[in-house]
Amino acid sequence: MKISEYIASQCGNPRGVIGRIMTWSMNRANNVMYKGIVSELNIRDSLRILDIGFGNGYLEKLIMKKGKCNIEGIDISEDMVNAATNNNRKYVEDGYIKFGIGDCCSMDYEDESFDVVTTMNTIYFWNQTDKGMSEIFRVLKPGGVFYNASLTKENLDKVFYTKSGFKKFNEDEYKKLGINAGFTKVDIKPLGNKYGLLVICEKGLE
Ligand SMILES: C[S@@+](CC[C@H](N)C(=O)[O-])C[C@H]1O[C@@H](n2cnc3c(N)ncnc32)[C@H](O)[C@@H]1O
Repeated sequence: MKISEYIASQCGNPRGVIGRIMTWSMNRANNVMYKGIVSELNIRDSLRILDIGFGNGYLEKLIMKKGKCNIEGIDISEDMVNAATNNNRKYVEDGYIKFGIGDCCSMDYEDESFDVVTTMNTIYFWNQTDKGMSEIFRVLKPGGVFYNASLTKENLDKVFYTKSGFKKFNEDEYKKLGINAGFTKVDIKPLGNKYGLLVICEKGLE
């Protein structure tokens, strides 16, 4: 396996010590993206969030620092379930956060379970992008919102290890993905200077 393929596979499914180091460095590099999601959330006790591909659980820490709510997270990497649980131990023990293994392209949750679904830097790795989007639509309550923070296509293209193993989308493609999944409105906000995008997909009330 080439080094570029190894790094891409660690980004899409972080494992072992290297996976932990990489997710830790993502925490430092992508601050503007975590903050972009957190600043959108109206955090309250009754809020039920699903976070897809939580990595080492850094986003959860930031959300909990702002206010208490209920978060469930799914990730395909068992090592990340352990890392995120360790990094948020108090919130997990107090029952605010539950991390588990899961793939967003096929979720066990009942229809209309969550007020908000978040994800950050994961959509490039989903096996079936359309299926993942329609699953997210399904598990959101009417009026619910999906926040997807992703690096811009231009930014991803600058990095050598994204040539394989990454699916890249431009703004029009993100809009199409949202509308095709059933969302009534898709807005896109820039994060940093062409660094990332926050794609906001709203599920209508009916
Ligand atoms: C680049 S890391 C981002 C981690 C975290 N969201 C962050 O930004 O700090 C991508 C994460 O998505 C997870 N992942 C990839 N495909 C997934 C899928 N289909 N469903 C759930 N998690 C997935 C990986 O295991 C990994 O933890």
